[in-house]
Amino acid sequence: MERIVILNFGAQYNQLIARRVREQGVYSELLPPMSSIERIKGDGLSGIILSGSPDSVYDEAGRKCDPAVFSLGVPVLGICYGMQLMTYLLGGEVKKAPVREYAGVHANFGNSPLFKDMPDSTVWMSHNDMVTRLPEGFEAVASTKDCPNAAMQNEGRRLFAVQFHPEVAHTEYCAKFFSNFVHGVCGCKGGWSPEGLVNELVEDIKKRVGDRRVVAGLSGGVDSSVAAALVSKAVGDKLTCIFVDHGLLRKNEADEVMHFYRENMGLNVIEVDAKALFLEKLAGVAEPEKKRKIIGESFVRVFESEAKKIGGAELLLQGTIYPDVIESGAGGASVIKSHHNVGGLPEKFGFELLEPLRPFFKDEVRAIGEALGMPKELVWRQPFPGPGLGIRVIGDITEEKLSILRESDWILRDEIKKAGLDKKIWQYFTVFTGMRSVGVMGDSRTYDYAIGVRAVVSTDAMTVEFADIPAHVLRRISNRIIAEVPHVNRVVYDITDKPPGTIEWE
Ligand code: XMP
Repeated sequence: MERIVILNFGAQYNQLIARRVREQGVYSELLPPMSSIERIKGDGLSGIILSGSPDSVYDEAGRKCDPAVFSLGVPVLGICYGMQLMTYLLGGEVKKAPVREYAGVHANFGNSPLFKDMPDSTVWMSHNDMVTRLPEGFEAVASTKDCPNAAMQNEGRRLFAVQFHPEVAHTEYCAKFFSNFVHGVCGCKGGWSPEGLVNELVEDIKKRVGDRRVVAGLSGGVDSSVAAALVSKAVGDKLTCIFVDHGLLRKNEADEVMHFYRENMGLNVIEVDAKALFLEKLAGVAEPEKKRKIIGESFVRVFESEAKKIGGAELLLQGTIYPDVIESGAGGASVIKSHHNVGGLPEKFGFELLEPLRPFFKDEVRAIGEALGMPKELVWRQPFPGPGLGIRVIGDITEEKLSILRESDWILRDEIKKAGLDKKIWQYFTVFTGMRSVGVMGDSRTYDYAIGVRAVVSTDAMTVEFADIPAHVLRRISNRIIAEVPHVNRVVYDITDKPPGTIEWE
């Protein structure tokens, strides 16, 4: 197997590097920087990438890696901080840059296999430090106006580094650069694809499960459904699915989802009404991370009690995917949100976790779902977070707020569908902002709630843009929500991209 390891020094968008490598048909994984050499070597190592970071190499606490990575006989590519770290560890010099570059700048490329067939063009720079003296045996192979050492190489040792970020789309020849590194420098043939892995995944699951029983937490979302379809193919009726109605579902969600699972996928699903448990535990809790942890723990407690009823199960299947792991802080990045199924899990629980989709991005999960022959409506359903409306009611959760949110969300979904935008927008939902303001309805003053409308386009939820919904559709949505949902007198449209925002408000 061909495999490229990315040592993750903590920049939030390091996942993009993994995607760029995978787009070249080679499996890639992010590992914590101080991973052991054995772990890095694993099975079939073809190359190593040292990622970007918010750290500086001269900080005591700055993340480092074992310098042995430079002597494993595979090519190493340093990106941004990765270049500075390579320089520092191999005896060169790094200093604060006189000009902090944070922009697309023109680069001149020299003679290097990294830049084969790449004309001089724009690259994305984002750095405070820069390399001022190259380590021995290295030569500079690219420059920009303010950065004379924008890339360096020691071709004999197959060590390469760039100060710019080739992984972001603002670098004009982004895909070509990765093709040069992955195929040209590392010599990979490619051919890896998530859908081509289905049989292998099924075999792995069979081996791992053996004679044991599995319970699956199904949420109605794409990830847990694809995970259940995979495991069902592998172990048939040793799998029991559990769909928890936690009282934080959208209008009609439970019926729709149960219909899909039973009629279209033939899964064995138990529906559990746990509304009272969740709402009681969440009562009065306003802090988003606390809510996420309570929801994560309550899910597991329900799974434990249901597993007992069916005579026990050793494994819990979850639809965890790669961005959940990264956004919950694994692999060195800071915690943005504790996803209910990763950072939101309690410390102790009575299951071994089965997470066959953990290495994959959302679009890859969808490709696996399609390869399994799952219904398109389910595979292409808009993502819905496990904590559900619990993270869309800002502040503490009450039945009244949930009901206002459900009704407004129902109207939004209806209007988006009528406007033919439902397939074009990645995710769209309403938010109970908790804010009240003054309005006038009929001839009277109102003092009621503001509902937020969030709609975003994306390919993988890592970066998003707010959706360009025509004004007449927005107006209809607003008019209907105010007319049809009691206690709402204002509707606002969220015009924040990610970054700097996130998709969900909490
Ligand atoms: P953010 O808000 O971090 O969301 O930009 C990225 C994607 O993840 C979904 N999301 C979750 N999904 N459990 C999930 O299963 C969670 O705890 C969770 N939090 C956010 C979100 O809806 C979006 O698609």
